[in-house]
Amino acid sequence: MNGFVIAVDGPAASGKGTIAVRLGALWGYPVLDTGLLYRAVGVGLQRAGGDLDSEAAAAAVARSLDLSHLEDPALRTRAAGEAASRVAVHDDVRRALLDFQRAFAAREPGAVLDGRDIGTVIAPAAPAKLYVTATPEVRADRRWKQLTGQGEAVTYDDILADIRRRDERDGGRESAPMRPADDAVLLDTTEMTIEAATDAARRIVEAARARWERSQG
Ligand code: CDP
Repeated sequence: MNGFVIAVDGPAASGKGTIAVRLGALWGYPVLDTGLLYRAVGVGLQRAGGDLDSEAAAAAVARSLDLSHLEDPALRTRAAGEAASRVAVHDDVRRALLDFQRAFAAREPGAVLDGRDIGTVIAPAAPAKLYVTATPEVRADRRWKQLTGQGEAVTYDDILADIRRRDERDGGRESAPMRPADDAVLLDTTEMTIEAATDAARRIVEAARARWERSQG
């Protein structure tokens, strides 16, 4: 029997990270924020003075990534998010990060992964798939509060522009573009508090769990 994989995809600041962590706590499963992998590649490449647009340079960083250092607060900055989205367009970068993510998804008795391509590429057979969205304005407001809370001096308008640019780049790239899997359940959190969104997500996963258990006989 395979583990129960919960795939949580969606655009920047949609609430998917918080939802993933809370679902993981509810079911007692480990959680992987896959965005951190791309952030680590972007930040690592920049620290080495490399070019974010160079696929070969970015892939070399991805292949030698130290995956035990994803706690670095430098990965949470605005600049890291932008760098992540630029290296994430490279096919060789995505390939280098694939095995680690697939192995995480194969953990027993289950795992939660959040990102852009979990339901489509990393774990297409996941029995529970959510695609979490919200309007760009609401997402910008959430991200602006988060970043200013971390001490970054940024304006709401800058963040809204970032979010729009990132949506376009992540959704428009050729390699594993951000999109809902055909069998994902859409969760629009625009009008929801994080508690309401988590509750809605829990119900979606419970329904998926019941179907999955029936299918396992
Ligand atoms: O929450 P936010 O979207 O700002 O950041 P994130 O989830 O940490 O992702 C940062 C960037 O990494 C995204 O804009 C994507 O370009 C990329 N990413 C991806 O391509 N595939 C994933 N599974 C996760 C992130």
